[in-house]
Amino acid sequence: MTINIAIDGPAGAGKSTIAREVAKTLSFIYVDTGAMYRAIALYVLKKGIDPKDQLSVCENCKFAQIELKYENRKQKVLLNGEDVSTEIREEVVGNVASVVARYDEIRKKLNVLSRRLAETTNVVMDGRDIGTVVLPKAEIKIFLTASVDTRACRRFLELQERGENPSLAEIREDIRQRDYQDMHREQSPLYQASDAILIDSSDMKISEVVDEILNICQKRC
Ligand code: C5P
Repeated sequence: MTINIAIDGPAGAGKSTIAREVAKTLSFIYVDTGAMYRAIALYVLKKGIDPKDQLSVCENCKFAQIELKYENRKQKVLLNGEDVSTEIREEVVGNVASVVARYDEIRKKLNVLSRRLAETTNVVMDGRDIGTVVLPKAEIKIFLTASVDTRACRRFLELQERGENPSLAEIREDIRQRDYQDMHREQSPLYQASDAILIDSSDMKISEVVDEILNICQKRC
């Protein structure tokens, strides 16, 4: 039997950093499901398909083969055999991912991959619907959130550190829009599972959130 830890929450709440740290401490695999939606979005962008054209996206994406590979526990995302792990991090890819993630056919395809990993390995998996849809029986469910302003500031500093010249107002607007899209879609909207533990990281350091999750794991696993 495997142990599954599900971490859901809005964009920019710190899920990936925290999930990676928790997974490292527990020697679990960290599965970033958003990366798969981003890989589909990249495919759509490269093919010049209108992301809002559901029929065209779903028809074309039958030919997008997504694979997750792990080397020293580090996740690599392959799109039709090509490593796109870096390319999918672009802001525009994240925004298109949020559009194509509305389509049931895409979600079903990616859920199969996520569940297969969780059945065979101990995982810390993050996303929007892990505790509610993908792994409803996960041993531990965390809903990690932070205020829009906190998330926008974190993203702003991250981009600045990468040498980019971001606009805080634009980032805030992107986050707001992505929250709305993720929470109000028909398929697998983002919400806190009834048995998930809420952590608001607005005034917490990364290490404090990690410790809190590790404490929960110790008590429950
Ligand atoms: O987590 P990340 O920002 O990389 O995810 C990109 C987009 O993919 C999200 O805004 C969301 O719309 C979608 N997504 C999803 N379900 C998941 C993971 C990501 O709908 N499990």
